[in-house]
Amino acid sequence: MADDAPHFAFGDNWKHFVADHFSEERVSIAQKHMLSFLGRNDLKGKTFLDIGCGSGLHSLAAFDAGAAKIVSFDVDPDSVHTTESLRARRGDPKNWTILQGSVLDKEFLAQLAPADIVYSWGVLHHTGDMWNAVANAATLMVPGGVFYLALYTTTQQSPSYLRIKKRYNRATPLLKRAMEFRHVVRHTVLTGLLAGTNPFRTIREYKKLRGMSYMVDVRDWLGGYPYEDARVEEVLRFCRRKLRLELIDLATGGANNEYLLQHTAATAAALASPVTAPAATLSAPAPANRGLKFVTKTSWAGLPLPTSRTRDLQPTGRIPPVKQVPHDIFDF
Ligand SMILES: C[S@@+](CC[C@H](N)C(=O)[O-])C[C@H]1O[C@@H](n2cnc3c(N)ncnc32)[C@H](O)[C@@H]1O
Repeated sequence: MADDAPHFAFGDNWKHFVADHFSEERVSIAQKHMLSFLGRNDLKGKTFLDIGCGSGLHSLAAFDAGAAKIVSFDVDPDSVHTTESLRARRGDPKNWTILQGSVLDKEFLAQLAPADIVYSWGVLHHTGDMWNAVANAATLMVPGGVFYLALYTTTQQSPSYLRIKKRYNRATPLLKRAMEFRHVVRHTVLTGLLAGTNPFRTIREYKKLRGMSYMVDVRDWLGGYPYEDARVEEVLRFCRRKLRLELIDLATGGANNEYLLQHTAATAAALASPVTAPAATLSAPAPANRGLKFVTKTSWAGLPLPTSRTRDLQPTGRIPPVKQVPHDIFDF
């Protein structure tokens, strides 16, 4: 990916999020969203690895949910400091470690213990090397663990999103405010009014999604560069063929698709007992899923809206056949 625009200062945005918007209510909303997708009531006894922790809100939510051990890391020092400030709110517990490092840095990753829950929400598409980042993150799952991944979905507007992000990062502070104003008017106020909904209510209630702040997410969306995206079938094919991961659950419809993945049974066995277990194969049996479903959300340019409906797929949990796969990004 050509690195031809300044990168977005994610950590600075998260610093402002915590300074201006942090509340215990947001932590519990974040926790509810996370536990609901994981299909759990709590994280007791589980180890949790937060890759690209940003504000640290979800690491804090994992701590409150009883995770036995939390490791949070981010490449941006401001994100690291902001996450440290949230840990300090809980008295700097010994079972929560915060590190600065990149998911693309294999030497750094080698120091980390694999975790029961590898969580990387809205991160790996911002690394500049998304597929390697996904592959690296997956190496940090324990056998039998899960990978909670959220990645931007490809749409017809993706090329224009990329141009907007580059323009935003090159803009003066004044021009940035103008772009933010235009985005809010165009994508929330006008869209809401035309749809007969109250856009100011949408903004007020935005935190109910994942505990986030509307304006912080507008800036993250406009600025979030490096930027890549992927279609669901690309992610599933990559995970199945390259990483031997199978889908447990999927939520689509927002700017980010959420994926819950686990090792195929054969891979988990091979990892747990590398000497005796058979090597993972493409024909390995699919892991148990929970009646795989698509959670479809309505969306407006770039920012997700609440889940609007849930639709069950075929009982086998199989994903419909892939129609188009850009072979240039895969080497198999
Ligand atoms: C959009 S934010 C998401 C933050 C958080 N996961 C959340 O859900 O709110 C993306 C985060 O990924 C971090 N990031 C980008 N590239 C990274 C890399 N190579 N390694 C680790 N973190 C990275 C950024 O610094 C930023 O904090």
